[in-house]
Amino acid sequence: MAKVLIAYFSHAGQNYSHGGIRNLPVGNTEVVAKKLNALVPSDLFYIDTVKKYPDDHMAKIKIAKQQFESGARPELTARVENMDAYDTVILAYPNWWTTMPMAVCTFLESYDFSGKTICPLITHGGSGFSDSLDDIARLCPGAHIARGLAINGDDVQNCDRTLEAWLGELEL
Ligand SMILES: Cc1cc2nc3c(=O)[nH]c(=O)nc-3n(C[C@H](O)[C@H](O)[C@H](O)COP(=O)(O)O)c2cc1C
Repeated sequence: MAKVLIAYFSHAGQNYSHGGIRNLPVGNTEVVAKKLNALVPSDLFYIDTVKKYPDDHMAKIKIAKQQFESGARPELTARVENMDAYDTVILAYPNWWTTMPMAVCTFLESYDFSGKTICPLITHGGSGFSDSLDDIARLCPGAHIARGLAINGDDVQNCDRTLEAWLGELEL
């Protein structure tokens, strides 16, 4: 059976959610990553940055925009030491400024994914994948990019059926 890694980025704290700025104790993508981890035999890896993002929504938006525009590669706190052991990587991330957070680019550039299958999952505020699928393909030459799943951030608490169907399609 394929060995599955779920690598995810997510940011709790203030976010625009259900029509207003709210404080999310657990980030939307983390909610989904943990559901997936319960549904499929897998290891979970949190893509965490050395320099933390602010909880304040507008401050976070501003920093994320600067990082996007400059193509920043924020340093991460940890590595997956045994990446060779995984055939399949479920990559879960939020849509930040039309693509994945730059920290996810740091993660993708840190390993050789050729021969592996990457299953992208995005949570978003209405834009779906935007440019992130093209960016993953560009950063992971030789990887097979499976059909991804986009979930609106407002729907993460009630997405179990959707996740099960997606995992079924992926044969995981
Ligand atoms: C810095 C930032 C930029 C965002 N940019 C977009 C965007 O361009 N398109 C979109 O649909 N949603 C955007 N969103 C909304 C998030 O993708 C959405 O709320 C997501 O579910 C947050 O996931 P998280 O709680 O796991 O971090 C943005 C949110 C933040 C904080």
